[in-house]
Amino acid sequence: MGKIVIAIDGYSGCGKSSTAKAVAKDLGFTYIDSGAMYRAATVHFLNHYLSPANPHDVEKGLKSLEVSFHLNPETNRQETYLGGLNVEDEIRTMRVSEKVSEIATIKEIRKELVAQQQRLGKKKGVVMDGRDIGSVVFPDAELKVFMTADLETRAIRRQQELLEKGELVELEVIKTNLAERDRIDSSRVESPLKKVADAVEIDTSNLTFEGQVATIVQLAREVIEKEKTYAGNH
Ligand code: CDP
Ligand code: CDP
Repeated sequence: MGKIVIAIDGYSGCGKSSTAKAVAKDLGFTYIDSGAMYRAATVHFLNHYLSPANPHDVEKGLKSLEVSFHLNPETNRQETYLGGLNVEDEIRTMRVSEKVSEIATIKEIRKELVAQQQRLGKKKGVVMDGRDIGSVVFPDAELKVFMTADLETRAIRRQQELLEKGELVELEVIKTNLAERDRIDSSRVESPLKKVADAVEIDTSNLTFEGQVATIVQLAREVIEKEKTYAGNH
């Protein structure tokens, strides 16, 4: 099977990461959660009382920032690490969700994480989800998807996820957080979230999870076939 880069961007909670993970599994590709990297950076700044608004703190924070992914052999899941510490659960808490978009507006932090993401995707055969994957990280990605879903649906899904992890959060609190992050992510100066012209838009509000995975896998197979035909003719 040919190797391509699949970039999945979109608003918070519309199904990007779970869909990207399933697509990667189906194609035998590697899944990379770029949001987890911004979330891990947020934990780092919060734990060291560093302010993203203070350039000295940003410089200091970046010097000691070490984000990596390691496979948990028991669950077969990639988990996020900060230095030697597993932060997979901590990065999904509301404490982090409430701060992450502010951290993600900082140019120097984006520069460092984008460079790491580009290194991780160098060998292709990756599915990466985030906000600027098709626009900045991999502008030449062979397949770009822009996912959307209405706010109510996204909030209900996220509430369920948090509940499964033992965190009970009111729907209104989640809705406010998703809407606020969408606002910051779409209006920031550095790499704002936007649908690029060559992205395929998929609204997941009324789709089944399996349906949206199958749609993207099908699109990917078509692109891979085209690439093979092109390579064969040249
Ligand atoms: O899972 P959810 O959609 O809630 O968010 P995420 O993908 O984990 O990303 C968390 C936050 O990181 C986003 O709200 C953005 O502020 C930021 N982010 C970004 O700026 N660029 C990316 N490529 C990925 C995430
Ligand atoms: O990465 P992003 O924040 O865009 O979304 P996510 O972390 O994948 O969360 C989406 C949640 O909605 C997951 O629990 C999915 O299983 C669920 N879901 C979905 O993604 N698509 C559907 N059609 C139905 C449910």
